Amino acid sequence: MDLMEAIKGRRSIRKYKPDPVPEEVFHTLMNSVRWSPSWANTQCWEVVAIKDPNVKSELATALPKGNPALSSMASAPLVLVLCGKKGISGFYKGQAVTVKGDWLMFDTGIAMQSLCLAAHSLGLGTVVVGMFDHKKAEKILGVPENIEVVALTPLGYPATEGSTPRRKEISEFVFSNHYGKKG
Ligand SMILES: Cc1cc2nc3c(=O)[nH]c(=O)nc-3n(C[C@H](O)[C@H](O)[C@H](O)COP(=O)(O)O)c2cc1C
Repeated sequence: MDLMEAIKGRRSIRKYKPDPVPEEVFHTLMNSVRWSPSWANTQCWEVVAIKDPNVKSELATALPKGNPALSSMASAPLVLVLCGKKGISGFYKGQAVTVKGDWLMFDTGIAMQSLCLAAHSLGLGTVVVGMFDHKKAEKILGVPENIEVVALTPLGYPATEGSTPRRKEISEFVFSNHYGKKG
């Protein structure tokens, strides 16, 4: 699949077929995370892959009732939880080197996009889920203090096509030379 086709064609998928994700496909997706860029190649990401229906349904209790991805947690054969190791991305000798502090959100965000695009190119669906009780999720999964749960995605073969939410026009977010200046 052409890269622009993958970027434009990927949609958030919230309904999945029960078919399992083959082991070699999972391996390819983990390689897409592995080869993502990161701050000074710190690779702060870690992934918890959940197949156990009991763990999936326990984790689903961390999502608020209004989260549109709530039912996806049970229907997807696999749920991937992206975690980040604190205090390495954006740091040099233990000191944050920019006003942004820890860049783990950024690096894990890139890794998540790699994963979602790779999944889409292989015919699988994903939906990035960020709205949940992160502390509760960390407790359920036994995540240690120095690691943060950032986001998760259900993963599986799509049972429906996703709708395409409208995007801003390029002219609405691109400026010329200075912020706010139109070319
Ligand atoms: C950081 C982030 C957090 C998100 N959190 C949720 C979420 O909690 N629940 C959900 O259903 N979708 C969530 N989404 C999916 C967005 O709603 C979706 O990407 C957006 O509406 C655009 O649709 P598309 O992915 O089909 O292009 C999230 C996406 C991102 C990037």
